[in-house]
Amino acid sequence: MKLENVVPWGRNLQEYKDMFELSSEDLKLKILGCGDGPSSFNYEVSKINSNVISIDPIYQFTKDEIQKRIDETSLIVSEQIKENENNFVWKNIKCVDELIDIRLKAMSNFIKDFDNGKKENRYIHNELPILSFPDNSFDLVLCSHFLFLYSEHINLQFHIDSILEMCRVSKNEVRIFPLIDLKNNKSEHLDYILDILKDKGFNTQIVKTKYEFQKLGNELLIIKLN
Ligand SMILES: C[S@@+](CC[C@H](N)C(=O)[O-])C[C@H]1O[C@@H](n2cnc3c(N)ncnc32)[C@H](O)[C@@H]1O
Repeated sequence: MKLENVVPWGRNLQEYKDMFELSSEDLKLKILGCGDGPSSFNYEVSKINSNVISIDPIYQFTKDEIQKRIDETSLIVSEQIKENENNFVWKNIKCVDELIDIRLKAMSNFIKDFDNGKKENRYIHNELPILSFPDNSFDLVLCSHFLFLYSEHINLQFHIDSILEMCRVSKNEVRIFPLIDLKNNKSEHLDYILDILKDKGFNTQIVKTKYEFQKLGNELLIIKLN
């Protein structure tokens, strides 16, 4: 991964809770977040639970390099969102300026936490579809805004390999959100993935979430492993 191709953009714990329907009991589990990037999920959860690990390719870079990339791109992203305002639901977040504040705050918390979190092995450089953890290492494995969202750029085989890898390292559950692509259409890979998971004997549920920021992005895939 080249950092100049990355557009860092991170959500906060409240959004993770809403997207993944995370209860306070869930937040005490051993959790792996795949593709957590510059979100503040790990920073915020680690205050109450020392068993949370995030993996992402951007964790191979330094704090200063990531901050520089945030500075270079945040204005461009804000402009793009302003141009495409109609693709989003402005309910919980009222306007683009509020959105930018929330995202920048989440990323600033991530940056402050990054070096310490790396020392504590909470931020680990790993890249799907391969994870460096033994089987059944976690109770719950999450993936927000990576799989399915980039269906036009990431092929079906990558989705299959990544999701089966997430299932391998989880004892109980894998949750993935959203199930739409960047054009707000149902991911072209979703039905194939559901068939494959069924063939493997995994139980899947698609749960409607109250959370909907990207229009029609209100469905969560839960894969039950036992
Ligand atoms: C749109 S961001 C989402 C960040 C965070 N999950 C959130 O919802 O705020 C997508 C993330 O996927 C990460 N990513 C890209 N390729 C990846 C891979 N092969 N394995 C895991 N994560 C990857 C990117 O670095 C980026 O941080």
